[in-house]
Parts: sequence; C-alpha cells; structure tokens
Amino acid sequence: MKIAIMGAMPEEVEPFLVGSDEPLSKNFMVRESLDYGANRYHLARYKDLEIVLAYSKIGKVYSALTAATMLEHFGCEMLLFSGVAGAVNPQLKIGDLIAATKLCQHDLDITAFGHPPGYVPEGKIYVEPSPKLLTVAKEVARERGIELQDGIIATGDQFIADPERKAWIAETFDADAIEMEGASVAVVCDALEVPFFVLRAISDAADMGATFDFDEFLKHSSRRSSSFILAMLEKIHGEKSAF
Ligand code: ADE
Repeated sequence: MKIAIMGAMPEEVEPFLVGSDEPLSKNFMVRESLDYGANRYHLARYKDLEIVLAYSKIGKVYSALTAATMLEHFGCEMLLFSGVAGAVNPQLKIGDLIAATKLCQHDLDITAFGHPPGYVPEGKIYVEPSPKLLTVAKEVARERGIELQDGIIATGDQFIADPERKAWIAETFDADAIEMEGASVAVVCDALEVPFFVLRAISDAADMGATFDFDEFLKHSSRRSSSFILAMLEKIHGEKSAF
C-alpha cells in the first residue's frame, strides 16, 4: 500500500525524517528524493508500507498541486495531512490536536451571485474525510491516552490574525480551527476518491498575537502532529487489509 504524507511547510514534515534536528523515534529512512512539478518528493518505507512524503508550500493552490501529484503521479492510495492551525474554538489551546470532520474554504466567495459563502455551483461547502481514518485516529488517541479533538476546519489563502475575520469564519462555517491547505487537499482527494485525513496541532489563536505565537510554537506543534500521524501509521499497518 502506498501512502502520501504531506504538510505545507518544511517544519511540518521534518520530524518524519531521519536526520532532522530532533527526529521522532520511528521515522522514515528516505530511499530516494525526486523532483516533480517544482517540488521535492521523498520516497520512503515504513515497515511494508510505501510512503511518499512532501511539503507543498503554503496555500490552497500549492497544496492542491502536491496532493494531486502524490495521487496521480506517484500513485498514492491514501493521504494523511499533518500540520498546524489557528484555533477558532476557544476550547482549543496551543499544542492541542484536532482531526478534521469536515473542511471548507472560507475565502471562496461568489455571494455576489446569491450563493452561500464557501459554495460554487457543482461543488460543496464541506468535504468530509474518510470515516475509517477518523475511527483509526480515535482508537489511537484512546489506546495511547492522547487527547484528540475533532471538528470543522476552515481553509483560506490568508493567515488570520484578526479577531473580526476569525469571528466571521467561526459564525459562518461553525469552524473550530483555521489553516491554509486542508480543504484544497480534501477537494482533490474527494474528487479522486482517495481516502484522506487532516490532522492539525494548534500553533496560535488566530488573534492579535497569532504571528508571534506561530513563530514560537510552529516546531513544537508540528512535532505533536507528526508524532500522532506516525502512531496512526502503525495502526494502519496493522489493519491494512481493512483499507
Ligand atoms: N495556520 C496556523 N495558524 C494559522 C492562522 N492563524 N491562520 C491561517 N493559517 C494558520
């Protein structure tokens, strides 16, 4: 089975790699790194699972390109996204893990034509990840005593550090967290009928202090997210006949 693991920024995928500053205990030995479509893809193995690992660069377009490349060019049959997000739900604190139950694009706007925010004809406002992968995540959390929340993630091509915009996104989409890639990756996987899962660890509260907190907590929160994805991989490996 071939699995795509992606993040948006180098910091979000570095913990997976042997040779990173502080590697996780069971990370990947890369066999080959290939450049394709102006991006680098690392081919690795985790037990008998084939892994394709990459960061896309920030934003919806770059992440859609990377996700599509991983599925269509490299032939991945499942995609796991790992990274950081800003908290919208006040119950989410820095370092907390949130698994997306639904993803939407908060900046997709043809409301001028009477459509609801986040909607374009023949699209859908919310895209849902694989229920099976969400179940795996919940089992991993329970078995390892890790706190995992779930909720709606809103994606847009803006770093949100503005209480008013944050409140609008919260109200309009019932969002719990915001980031810049999840929904675009979700749209690609949904269209190509490949099971996917989006995990984020909170790096900031998308408020006035967001840029400062983001710089401070990016590495730590990325590591929390990567570590959880590795635990999921262990479980997926054990149950791969179910996928
Ligand atoms: N990713 C992490 N924090 C974010 C924020 N405040 N806005 C958008 N994306 C983010």
